[in-house]
Amino acid sequence: MTSRKKETALEDRGADGARLFSPSAARNRDPIRDVFLKYLPKTGAALEIGSGTGEHAVHIAAAAPRLRWFASDPDGAARASIAAHMAASGLENIDGPHAVDVCEKDWDALLAGPFDAVVSINMIHIAPFAAAEGLFAGAARLLRRGGRLLLYGPFAQGGVHSAPSNEAFDASLKSRDPRWGVRDLEHDIAPLAQEHAFRREAVVEMPANNFTVVFAKQ
Ligand SMILES: C[S@@+](CC[C@H](N)C(=O)[O-])C[C@H]1O[C@@H](n2cnc3c(N)ncnc32)[C@H](O)[C@@H]1O
Repeated sequence: MTSRKKETALEDRGADGARLFSPSAARNRDPIRDVFLKYLPKTGAALEIGSGTGEHAVHIAAAAPRLRWFASDPDGAARASIAAHMAASGLENIDGPHAVDVCEKDWDALLAGPFDAVVSINMIHIAPFAAAEGLFAGAARLLRRGGRLLLYGPFAQGGVHSAPSNEAFDASLKSRDPRWGVRDLEHDIAPLAQEHAFRREAVVEMPANNFTVVFAKQ
């Protein structure tokens, strides 16, 4: 396995052929899967935005065999990695990878909804805020009523970071790209939820000062 660095990955990833391996995915995939499974339906269709290496896609899809998992990423190397992980997994309930960029207008028109869930792990803080806006707008159009939008990552709450390490992370993100940054659940995300008729259902504390945030489409 060789090591390669990608700007948006923010960490050294391993590689085996096209398959990329993210150290943070290896650390966090079990708790993410376990919490997501509580909020995902057992059957139906879930769309993942920004699947990255594809490790979370195969890990969750393996544990939810009756759920159809649609993996996506705008990055070609990420899609090659997702495809290679899908092939290695032998799973038949993963679709894609789809080339979805939530900053593009009407990105949801690429996909045939409705979906029962839309999920995005570690994406909206490593992208311009337009990605969060596009994610909520497209998810609102794609989700059936009562469908859920699940977000995972670091979040501030009420203007306060959850840990000094997240404040430092926020500064480091902004130094790489001033449009990036840890989002605030009240100041940044709540207005999007309100605009697109999502009700916040749960904020689940995760290891390493991260959160899973669950919204339901009304
Ligand atoms: C830090 S990686 C996280 C990957 C994976 N979800 C994980 O947690 O291991 C962020 C991913 O979001 C994708 N991304 C960035 N901007 C995006 C956008 N506008 N629409 C969809 N995905 C985007 C990147 O290509 C990248 O694969």
